[in-house]
Amino acid sequence: MSRKARAVLCRELNKPVVVEQVSVDPPKRGEVMVRMGACGVCHSDLSAINGTIALPLPLVLGHEAAGVVEEVGEGVNDLAKGDHVVFSFIYMCGKCRFCAAGRPVLCLEQGKALTTPLEGTPRVRDAAGKPLNIFSGCGTMAEYATVSAENLIKIDPKIPMECAALVGCAVTTGVGAVFNTAKVEPGSTVVVFGCGGVGLSAIQGARIAGAERVIAIDTLEPKLAMAKKFGATDVILFKEDPVKELKKLTGGGPDYAFECVGSGELAGVAYRAIRRGGTAVVVGVARSTENTALRTMTLVFEEKTLTGSYFGSCVPRVDFPRMLGLYLGGQLKLDELITRRYSIAEAPQAFADLESGKNARGVIVF
Ligand SMILES: NC(=O)c1ccc[n+]([C@@H]2O[C@H](COP(=O)([O-])OP(=O)(O)OC[C@H]3O[C@@H](n4cnc5c(N)ncnc54)[C@H](O)[C@@H]3O)[C@@H](O)[C@H]2O)c1
Ligand SMILES: [Zn+2]
Ligand SMILES: [Zn+2]
Repeated sequence: MSRKARAVLCRELNKPVVVEQVSVDPPKRGEVMVRMGACGVCHSDLSAINGTIALPLPLVLGHEAAGVVEEVGEGVNDLAKGDHVVFSFIYMCGKCRFCAAGRPVLCLEQGKALTTPLEGTPRVRDAAGKPLNIFSGCGTMAEYATVSAENLIKIDPKIPMECAALVGCAVTTGVGAVFNTAKVEPGSTVVVFGCGGVGLSAIQGARIAGAERVIAIDTLEPKLAMAKKFGATDVILFKEDPVKELKKLTGGGPDYAFECVGSGELAGVAYRAIRRGGTAVVVGVARSTENTALRTMTLVFEEKTLTGSYFGSCVPRVDFPRMLGLYLGGQLKLDELITRRYSIAEAPQAFADLESGKNARGVIVF
C-alpha cells in the first residue's frame, strides 16, 4: 500500500527547503519501506541545496536516519516488519571486486542506486504525481521511505532512534576516518579542522583510539567549547593559516590531520601541517571546482600521505554495530552530539541553524 507522508524537499538551488505532502510507493522486490524515527541534518544535505554536491532536483533530502521496518518486498529475508534499522547511504552490490574485498564504499554499482532504489524507478511522488529523487539512495527526511534492502542495517531496538540515526553518517564518517582510514595509533597527535557533527566524531574517535593530543580547530568559538567536551586537549580559533602554530604546539606537526570542513585550501593546510611521515585525511566534501596544491617534493623526502575518506571507509554491517557497541559501553557520546531536536515542519529552521553553525548536530524527530 502506498503511504501519504510529509517530506523535506529541495526544489530549487539556493532556496529554503520546503515541506510537502508526498506519496511513497510500497516496496518492490529487494526493497523495504521504513517508517522514520529520526533523521540528522548533515552538511552534505546542505551541499545538495547549494550545489556543492550536484544531485538532480526535485530531491527528497536526508540520509542520516533510523526507523522501523513497515513493509518488506519480495525476496527480502533478513528484515521483518518491526525491525529497527539504520540507513546506510552507500549502496553495496556485494559482488563487485571492491565489495568482495571488504571496501563497499568503493562499490562499482553505487551510481546506479544514487537517486532511486537500485531497480532504477522512483518510489516517491509529489501531490501532482510527479516523481521525486532521493538523496543518496535514502531520502530519509520523510515520514516514510522505500529503499533497497542493501541500504539498511538492523540494530538493537533499545538504542534511541535519534542516537542510532547519527551512526548513519556523521559518527561513522568521523570515527571511521580515524579508525579505518588513518588507523590512528595510541599516543599520537591529531588535529581536526571543523567541529560539526563529523569533526566532533573524529575528535571522539581520536580520543577512543588513545591519541595523546587532540587539537580542534574551528572558526566559531562555541564549537571549540563543544570540541573540549568530546575530548579535544587543545583548541585553536581559526583566523589565519594555523600551520606555524600547529608546528610549534606539537614540536614539528601532528601525526594525523583530518579536514572535516569541505575546502580545497584547507586540505592543503592539513597536509602542510602534518609532520614527516604523517597522514592528512580529507573528509569534508569541497565543491567540484576546488583544488588542493601541495609541494610535490615533500611527498618524497618527508614521506607524507594525503588521502581521502568516504563514509569512514566503513563496512556498515561491521562498523554500525561497532559504533553502537561503543555507545552502549559509554565510550562514544551520541546523546551529547544532539544540540537540538526539530519537528519535520521546522526543517527550514534546522538548515538555517546548520548553516550558521549553531549545532553540534540537529536532528529531525518524527
Ligand atoms: N567523507 C564523507 O563520507 C562525508 C560524510 C558526511 C559529511 N561529509 C562532509 O564533511 C563536512 C562536514 O560535515 P558536517 O555535517 O560536520 O558539517 P558542519 O557544518 O556541521 O560542520 C562544519 C564545521 O566547520 C567549521 N568551519 C568552517 N570553516 C572553517 C575553517 N576555515 N576552519 C575550521 N573550521 C571551519 C564550521 O564552523 C563548522 O563547525 C562537509 O563537507 C560534509 O559534506 C563527508
Ligand atoms: Zn559492489
Ligand atoms: Zn551526511
